[in-house]
Amino acid sequence: MINDIDYTKIFSEIVTEFKDNDDCGKVATYIPELGKVDPNKLGIHLTTVEKHHSSFGDWNEKFSIQSIAKVLSLTLALKIMGNDVWDRVGVEPSGTAFNSLVQLEYERGIPRNPFINAGAIVICDILVSCLDNPKLELLEFIRKSSGIREIDFCLKIAQSEKVTGFRNYALAHLMKDFCNIHNEVELVLDLYFHLCSIKMTCKELAQAFLFLASYGVNPITNETVISPGRTKRINSIMLMCGFYDEAGEFAFRAGLPGKSGVGGGIVAIHPGKYCIAVWSPKLNTNGNSYKGMRVLEAITTKTESSIF
Ligand code: DON
Repeated sequence: MINDIDYTKIFSEIVTEFKDNDDCGKVATYIPELGKVDPNKLGIHLTTVEKHHSSFGDWNEKFSIQSIAKVLSLTLALKIMGNDVWDRVGVEPSGTAFNSLVQLEYERGIPRNPFINAGAIVICDILVSCLDNPKLELLEFIRKSSGIREIDFCLKIAQSEKVTGFRNYALAHLMKDFCNIHNEVELVLDLYFHLCSIKMTCKELAQAFLFLASYGVNPITNETVISPGRTKRINSIMLMCGFYDEAGEFAFRAGLPGKSGVGGGIVAIHPGKYCIAVWSPKLNTNGNSYKGMRVLEAITTKTESSIF
């Protein structure tokens, strides 16, 4: 029971309600390693800023967090480079698929936001320019800010992405032509593929993102990850851009800032209250977890705890 709400009971009721009649979607197979996951996994973990935990199902199993990790690379880039980041990438919703090339040509190589693939690749380029050993230093930043040493890349997934990453190569080359990629494409994408390959459990995700619910400080480690002002900006971009051309749909359903990944994970933040992670690998046609979105909608509705 947390603040008079029995989250564990609510999770279980919601999952029972959804058991038979709400099970659409397909596991991502365009990255072959992701296609090996059991499609019926379902995990939920909520951590409050007072460090209370509630969980359900496969909450303690690691999975590929994919694009959810783009929030952490943005956080590190903002820490290192500050507002200059915004000269290279925008803060507007794209209204297009996460891997779309179309807008980038019209908008001369400046991605709409840091969460579409093009934007995350620019953020990786910034990290490659600023860090001596970008992969190691990024991982170290995530481990330190979350307080979880066991967080790591999955080399099989990174390799699987590299050999099928034709669109990401196209995006990076197009941006290089517009002078918005400063390093070698191969180096930048190596960091990008590793970033997307990070594996975490729902519990680890909720802990690693709790700083966004707590004005930039992780209450579990007492580590100041980023300033309150930048926390506000990151949450705002999550609300507007965390689900690509479905950002409006998630805000409408769940009413929280959130970020999805094609591994089937979703992280959502209730500023000042909690961070929740849901994992269900079957995706809708926009590349977001079908059940994950509905579970989060039901949770914020039942507990009357959205930001609106
Ligand atoms: O670049 C890709 O296609 C993947 N590594 C990340 C895509 C992703 O997670 C989009 N999110 N829903």
